[in-house]
Amino acid sequence: MTRRPDGVPRSRRSLRTRLLVAFVVPLVAVLGLVGVVSVTALRAQLVSQVDTRLDAAIGRSESYSSQPGYDPPHDTGDGDGNGSPGGPGFLGARGQGEGTLGATVVDGICTTSGVLGSRGQTLQLSSAQQGVLVDLPTDAEPVTRDLGGDLGDYRLIASPARDGEVLVTGLPLNSTADAVRRLVTVELIVGLLALVAAALAAVLVIRRALRPLDRVAATATRVSELPLASGEVRLVERVLPGDTDPGTEVGQVGTALNRMLDHVEGSLAARQESETQVRQFVADASHELRTPLASIRGYAELVRRQHAAVPADVGHAMRRVESEALRMSELVEELLLLARLDAGRELAQEEVDLTALVVDTVSDAHVAGPGHTWQLDLPDAPVLAPGDPGRLHQVLANLLANVRSHTPDGTTATTRLRVQGGWAVLQVIDGGPGIPAALRPHVFERFARGDASRSRSAGSTGLGLAIVHAVVSAHGGQVEVASEPGRTVFTIRLPHATEAAVAAAD
Ligand SMILES: Nc1ncnc2c1ncn2[C@@H]1O[C@H](COP(=O)(O)OP(=O)(O)OP(=O)(O)O)[C@@H](O)[C@H]1O
Ligand SMILES: [Mg+2]
Repeated sequence: MTRRPDGVPRSRRSLRTRLLVAFVVPLVAVLGLVGVVSVTALRAQLVSQVDTRLDAAIGRSESYSSQPGYDPPHDTGDGDGNGSPGGPGFLGARGQGEGTLGATVVDGICTTSGVLGSRGQTLQLSSAQQGVLVDLPTDAEPVTRDLGGDLGDYRLIASPARDGEVLVTGLPLNSTADAVRRLVTVELIVGLLALVAAALAAVLVIRRALRPLDRVAATATRVSELPLASGEVRLVERVLPGDTDPGTEVGQVGTALNRMLDHVEGSLAARQESETQVRQFVADASHELRTPLASIRGYAELVRRQHAAVPADVGHAMRRVESEALRMSELVEELLLLARLDAGRELAQEEVDLTALVVDTVSDAHVAGPGHTWQLDLPDAPVLAPGDPGRLHQVLANLLANVRSHTPDGTTATTRLRVQGGWAVLQVIDGGPGIPAALRPHVFERFARGDASRSRSAGSTGLGLAIVHAVVSAHGGQVEVASEPGRTVFTIRLPHATEAAVAAAD
């Protein structure tokens, strides 16, 4: 478990894995518990049966040893019949079964001991085994001891008899151990099989139950990949009706997602409508302003031409009216162009000779800004790209006008054209003071200007680079800027460019 940046614990396992673990772990615990309980119960049951038999064996031992003349130890059964030191006599009592252990202990010393063999013979106990018998509590309660060797676990009872003698009687637990071992083996095999079968069934059920969630997630992913930020968006993606059953949890998610998509679609449509209205308003207003502005300019020019007839200050005022009306006309034209580009108005599509366009525009800049040094860096062959020649000319003219108005006289500006991988790369590089750092991220936004008060007085509106961006984007291209004091580079990339073959000069 890790933590997300917002502090909420995050599990690295998938929901599927967690569900499977939550199912399998308790199952293993239950199976284990059942196994332990059943083994313990069986063991206790079998031991109590042995204890019952042991009680009978003790009864036989005690009654046998209380008979008068009980002294000789039981024959070891080695064939000589002379009763050589071996098991106690009560091992020979009628009814004692194979494996019955008998011993007599006097003063902490095992005087006789033995185990009944399969043919009724008495098998000797080792001194270590006798040591175990000597240490038994003499409270006539059955205890379990491991006698080692071939004998294994024994149930034993030490009961006091005559003359301080202690009679030890025991029965083997090996059949109990075998039964317990068999049960454990069976439980392990059956438990493992049950576990595997249950886990497989759980995997299938979980996978089946979560499949609709995958489909809902896939729908959400597809929607998240749609470009919703601008333009007209058709949001057709929806969760399928089969995955929107409100009776299931996944269905509730699907229903909620569909409802959210309905809302988003509605909001996007409303946004698009209001954007269209604003754009239409700007386009209409700009269009309507063109005629009165042209009239103002016309009348002002008329007055200006009548040098003699008007007083000097009126003539000066008229010149100002004319120049401001001219500036306003340009602004209106720029606004109209932006509104039309926003509305996706088709641009002219023809093969533009970018090399010639660069040469022409730089020549114009040379005339307009003789204080600057204008340099050209062009490839040998003419570069052609599809586009609108008028608008592309305006793009370059705006960039060069910026060099003229935002860098001091004497600055060198280089216009470079290249073709790289099917893209025409047009760069305007100047050695001026650079774009202020605060302005750089917003430089392509509308009405973004450096020193606002100074720019405005210098006739700047802050629409030049916005137009560059809009025109280049409408051509499917890209524009970017890198600027630092002493070097500002505007780079424009236009797609589908080719280099025309140069006719061999002969
Ligand atoms: N080559 C440049 N060197 C330094 N600053 C620049 C350069 N080009 C643009 N800028 C800065 O970017 C701002 C925005 O340029 P943009 O062309 O959009 O507007 P403008 O030149 O101020 O006005 P307009 O072009 O509409 O007359 C400028 O005001 C200027 O501060
Ligand atoms: Mg400009």
